[in-house]
Amino acid sequence: MTDNLKPLSTATLTLEDKSYSLPTLMGVEGEKSIDISKLRAQTGYITLDEGYGNTGACESSITYIDGEKGILRYRGYPIEELAEHSRFTEVAYLLLHGELPTVDQLNLFSKRLNESSIIHEDMHHFFNGFPRGSHPMGILATMVASLSTFYPVPDVLDEATEIQIVANLVSQVRTIAAFSYKKSIGEPLVYPSIKYRYVRNFLNMMFSSPVRDYQLDDDIVRAIDMFLILHADHEQNCSTSSVRTAGSSMANVYAVTSAGISALWGPRHGGANQEVIQMLEQIHAEGGDGTEFINQAKDKNSGRRLMGFGHRVYKNFDPRAKVLKKQCDKLLNKPGMNDPLLEIAMRLEEIALKDDYFISRKLYPNVDFYSGLILRAAGIPTNMFTVLFAIGRMPGWLAHWREMLHGKQVTITRPRQMYVGETERHFVDIENR
Ligand code: SDX
Repeated sequence: MTDNLKPLSTATLTLEDKSYSLPTLMGVEGEKSIDISKLRAQTGYITLDEGYGNTGACESSITYIDGEKGILRYRGYPIEELAEHSRFTEVAYLLLHGELPTVDQLNLFSKRLNESSIIHEDMHHFFNGFPRGSHPMGILATMVASLSTFYPVPDVLDEATEIQIVANLVSQVRTIAAFSYKKSIGEPLVYPSIKYRYVRNFLNMMFSSPVRDYQLDDDIVRAIDMFLILHADHEQNCSTSSVRTAGSSMANVYAVTSAGISALWGPRHGGANQEVIQMLEQIHAEGGDGTEFINQAKDKNSGRRLMGFGHRVYKNFDPRAKVLKKQCDKLLNKPGMNDPLLEIAMRLEEIALKDDYFISRKLYPNVDFYSGLILRAAGIPTNMFTVLFAIGRMPGWLAHWREMLHGKQVTITRPRQMYVGETERHFVDIENR
């Protein structure tokens, strides 16, 4: 425990007519906790909390969420202000270094991102090894882990090397993503260009071609930049917890972020943005208004959920969904950008928010409900949606990895369990089984 947590009083635990005093602590926003780090030694008991919904895994000063009030702040800055006034590289710097950059700091960071935006030429052969139609998340997780073979990480990382590696990853994840897309459609790779900033570079690598002029649309660039800002961090979510867990074994940063990519892939986490669009497309194809789908989502036996709805922490509107909904409205009302799926999404939201099933379970639209519509408008193929989420989340993962690495001590993550298997029994030869 560092001195950032304010000691409160103590909690008294009575077990088998013995009482134990456990320290209680308060974070800067008033969250309270009971410090159980000595519980097992003192009482022989452990706690049980499947999914860790009631368990703080660490102290962190990166992101603050209030799920009841729908608050999200990166290093104290409200997400709404960053989405409106900032750009992704500036927010990446904020998450990684704790402060908004000066002009010189941002220029140096952008220079680092540009200089490290290419990957070793020999890595291009890897793309040829993946079967046609491979999911880009499988390619991304593999390629990021394999960066450690081309850019070995020294056992002892000095600050300068660590900062350079972090910039490399924020930049190269974007290049690998664009290259995997180009490979998947059999088009020649388009290299990053020093002419473009982060998002423009990405879109240019994705969609330009030696034989096709690709005009960068400022509104699309802005919308994708905002998408990345809104996905940049989210405290101890599933993939970030995976990064911190993998990092606690002192595995190298490429292996650690590859673990985050793999966890993000799941449909209950980052994979939901792809599932939302597939859900909307299905409703559109069936010509429904969503009512039938909502009924199925409420029926446990249907195996269906209203994708993009619900959240482990937000029991109110996800503030990112509000910003993305506004951005969707603006972008899709541009001439020629209309998307019938937006009307369906808004209709689903309208029905669900009046339906007691969703109200009683505090299920609201989350970041994934509208985000896919922005990616669709940019021409990003659906199977690349979670890859875009990973590009956005990379600075957050790296900020948590650094915070863990430079914490008071790196404690390897190793939860306990409640054993419910067989009690002791003895080996029986196969002839006697
Ligand atoms: C992200 O953690 C983060 O911060 C993640 C994230 C980030 O930025 O990193 O915010 C990104 O992962 C957002 C979430 C994207 N996932 C989806 O949109 C998938 C659909 N949502 C659900 O699968 C679900 O809501 C979760 C997984 C997101 C949250 O699950 P919880 O809080 O554990 O809720 P639960 O599974 O315990 O469900 C509680 C009840 C259940 O019904 P009952 O058993 O009480 O009758 O609500 C129901 C669930 O069946 N429920 C839903 C539902 N989500 C929960 N019913 C229908 N549709 C849904 N979407």
